[in-house]
Amino acid sequence: MEVIIAPDYASMSRLAAAMVVDLLNAKPNAVLGLATGSTPIGTYQELVALYRARKIDFARVTTFNLDEYVGLPVDHPQSYSHFMRTNLFNHINVPERAIHVPSGTTTNHAAFCDWYEEEIKAAGGIDIQLLGIGGDGHIAFNEPGSSLGSRTRLKTLTQQTIDDNARFFDTAAEVPRFAITMGVGTILEARHCILLASGEGKALPVAQAIEGPVTSMVTASALQLHPRTTAIVDEAAAARLKLREYYRWVHRHKAQSQGPHFLRTAEASLPRDHLAE
Ligand code: PGA
Repeated sequence: MEVIIAPDYASMSRLAAAMVVDLLNAKPNAVLGLATGSTPIGTYQELVALYRARKIDFARVTTFNLDEYVGLPVDHPQSYSHFMRTNLFNHINVPERAIHVPSGTTTNHAAFCDWYEEEIKAAGGIDIQLLGIGGDGHIAFNEPGSSLGSRTRLKTLTQQTIDDNARFFDTAAEVPRFAITMGVGTILEARHCILLASGEGKALPVAQAIEGPVTSMVTASALQLHPRTTAIVDEAAAARLKLREYYRWVHRHKAQSQGPHFLRTAEASLPRDHLAE
């Protein structure tokens, strides 16, 4: 797994956005897998700024979101559909028909989940999948114990996830108990996974996911089996990585050896003093 330690949240966000720009420059009809939560908000702000500066075009892009709470209609302020509209879709030119967020109101969960999987396949598969990581090590809503081969399905949230997400609701009792989520197996089929993590609260799950054993108890650790995952973590989230200095060394040497293309991306994303380290 490629691990990039960014100096801070803003740099992490710029680097992730630069990877999306690189993809869309090469493949304007790319399929983006998108995540919700606090972590990707900065990346979405970067993408909106790049769109406004006419440096990126979403006209031919298709998107698939990882998950949605069961029971929340699209216009509920805490639904992930609403989150995506507010933070990204309302500000860019992705066509409405190309947006996919799992339904929070379907009553036939099994059939809906099968349809979602088929739509991902029909779109040609996901090119870049953005991912956050939960305090319990989950990716999407694949809670501890989820099969590492799991597909899109209905999932019961853990108490830790309910508590972590209670900050977005008036009371913990309002946090939905169930979600529809892409499975670990679904996520592992994306061509490139980008795992984002920021802040000291993520230091333990990040270390477990990147350097611990592959285990369904930390579903993000399944990314170790993926042929192309980039973890972009800020300093605080990197604090418990044993090989921190090695990852920094690798990144510096890649920047030196991979020539102008890599440097363009790196320069767009990281402050100069970091590159010069
Ligand atoms: P966060 O959530 O970005 O709000 O920390 C991440 C997650 O639970 O996947």
